[in-house]
Amino acid sequence: MLIVVPEVFSKERVREIRAALDAAEWVDGKVTAGHQSAQTKFNSQIPENSPVAKQIGELILQALGTNPLFRSAALPLRVFPPLFNRYAGGQTFGTHVDNAIRTHGPTGGRIRTDLSCTLFFSEPEEYDGGELVVEDTYGSKSVKLPAGDMVLYPSTSLHHVTPVTRGARVSSFFWLQSMIRQDAQRTLLFDLDESIQRLAGGAQAEDAEVKKTTVQLTGVYHNLLRQWAEM
Ligand code: NI
Repeated sequence: MLIVVPEVFSKERVREIRAALDAAEWVDGKVTAGHQSAQTKFNSQIPENSPVAKQIGELILQALGTNPLFRSAALPLRVFPPLFNRYAGGQTFGTHVDNAIRTHGPTGGRIRTDLSCTLFFSEPEEYDGGELVVEDTYGSKSVKLPAGDMVLYPSTSLHHVTPVTRGARVSSFFWLQSMIRQDAQRTLLFDLDESIQRLAGGAQAEDAEVKKTTVQLTGVYHNLLRQWAEM
């Protein structure tokens, strides 16, 4: 399941963050790549122990912590501290799969990567190319979102970033370990949660039968979560 989380940040907040990122120190993106992906990865990154990365990373985690769509779709257990990358001048990242386990350099903390996240800090008009292309059994999905929006996709997917031939594509990328390891189970829970929310917020919400059904489905949701969640 590929999910877009719109407006993680307002445009004003994006401008502030972007100014801080543009002023930061950038290094070769191969620093966090595995041996194989280092051969196809051409971009810049902010070092993970940089104060700017930590500070903006905290803002991202705070914003996501109170975002209902993100929480429902990801059911996050542990989130890797956000990293930042920039593609310009024809830079690209060829087809790869993200490492299954990530170790955070500064803290040594480890997570299993269930979901990969890209949060855009450039407007689509600022650059040409730079689409994130995620391969799925149904075909490829190309993603290029407004600044402040984020995409979540299963870390099991092959994906690539097309060359940026004009301007610069600045984004944050990170991974998370979900309480629900399997994408299919996570998708079922997300669909069920959406349906319950629609029922509970709908015109018939006060109807006795609808109320009873909503409570029963909420029970099903929590009992599935109880069966499947790992912590
Ligand atoms: Ni990747």
